[in-house]
Amino acid sequence: MGSINRRQAIGAGLAAVAAWPLLARAGEAPGAPTFALGVASGCPRPDSVVLWTRLIFPEAPSDPFSFAPVVEAPRGPVEIDWVIALDRELTRIVQSGRYETVGDFAHSAHIEVTGLEAGMTYYYRFATATVASAVGRTRTAPPAGSMEPVTFAYASCQHFEQGFYAAYRDMAGRDLDFVLHLGDYIYESSSGAGRVRSHDGPIPTTLGEFRARHATYKSDANLQSAHAAFAWLLIWDDHEVVNNYYSDAAPTAPQAEAFLARRRAAYQAWYEHMPVPPHIEPGFDNLTIRDYYSFGSLLDLALLDARQYRTHVAQSLAEAADPDRTMLGPDQEEWLARRLSVAQARWTMIAQPTLLSERVSGSGKEADILDGWDGYQAARRRLLGMVDAAGVSNPVFVGGDVHTFYAAELPRDFLEPAPGNLAVEFTVGSITSNGPSAKATAAALAGNSHIKFAEGQQHGYAIARVSATRLETQFLAVSDRADPDATTFNLASFAVADGEPALITTGPHTS
Ligand SMILES: [Fe+2]
Repeated sequence: MGSINRRQAIGAGLAAVAAWPLLARAGEAPGAPTFALGVASGCPRPDSVVLWTRLIFPEAPSDPFSFAPVVEAPRGPVEIDWVIALDRELTRIVQSGRYETVGDFAHSAHIEVTGLEAGMTYYYRFATATVASAVGRTRTAPPAGSMEPVTFAYASCQHFEQGFYAAYRDMAGRDLDFVLHLGDYIYESSSGAGRVRSHDGPIPTTLGEFRARHATYKSDANLQSAHAAFAWLLIWDDHEVVNNYYSDAAPTAPQAEAFLARRRAAYQAWYEHMPVPPHIEPGFDNLTIRDYYSFGSLLDLALLDARQYRTHVAQSLAEAADPDRTMLGPDQEEWLARRLSVAQARWTMIAQPTLLSERVSGSGKEADILDGWDGYQAARRRLLGMVDAAGVSNPVFVGGDVHTFYAAELPRDFLEPAPGNLAVEFTVGSITSNGPSAKATAAALAGNSHIKFAEGQQHGYAIARVSATRLETQFLAVSDRADPDATTFNLASFAVADGEPALITTGPHTS
């Protein structure tokens, strides 16, 4: 490495502190790794967060975003120093350390910092011997018992080719406690006509190709700024591996052995690029991403995996009604039932990738109907029944996947409807990915009385503001996903009152 020692590198980085967010300085030594994919934090607990980055070895030192090499040459370990502080100038340091990144994990860093103070904002940065990263900001979860309001953004479906990430620039400028991503963080396939930018390379099937695809997405400055600004929680959907996959196969990859090798590569690349703790890494044949977070006594948040353990897709709606079919798998169902049975918070949010509501018309292609909860009707009945039986306070479902903003009131059982609601559901539209036709969305709204709002032509994200008395959700749409400088507007907003699982419209339904 170069002649600049780490202390000098950090000092030089401090001299550049001027505005938020800071940009990483370009690599100073030719061929030396850089922090070109940015920094991230995640998994906020009252006493811990995970810090993430990944070193990139530029092929051409003048072009830090040259990710073209799909097969990277083996490279040795590279040490990075990390620091976490109470101020963005990183002078009030609370902890620091050294981490050895290795080629086996794409020189990614997953540092679980413990012993932090609850409900506190922190700033962090990484440095190699030659270069410092951008400064990231993060926040721990509130202390046990807290009823302080919590505000977070949630998002899904960010096809790189189908739009720019103006939504993330907007998000990065807000005051949020965390960000929740509900899946389709990357897409494996190119969308062809009408794209505003292009993926590099083919549909990924190998580890190198999945790493390159994640790097392409993470090269986006707006996505980087949203990661740098907040702690993220993430679940995945199908496109992190391949469209409409189910446990050990997919419609386009029916051979389990070959598919599982591809899934292993996809899971490893997902781990390498997400701010998740190092202990979830068990070899990548399986990866446990379900988790449970508490934000004081105000909000409990369950994160579900609806891909890894599901029954194979049904061939017809008659088959979809088979009571043995599972979306979450028996272990995850048991885990969730146990968690819900001891849930104490005022609001109980269950995050899963897709639309939970029944959608008996206007849902488009049959393959997509059968891929969603409508293809797993008994599993949906069990999930709703579990929430009902646990008697949790104020159940709220959130999802994505369908590239449509939906707001719905859920009955206790779609198969035997009875008066009264069990829960509300908010489904966030896509950050950029193509939505259904206006006709299909209108039919979904008209044909399903529990769905109160539907908009599939707009793209953006959602913000939830949770307090002791109300949960408010705002759907924010970007003015034009093809415009990198697009602004956002309020598409619709709703409130839910404590104890009343019903939607109160509070903002315009403009489109
Ligand atoms: Fe999607």
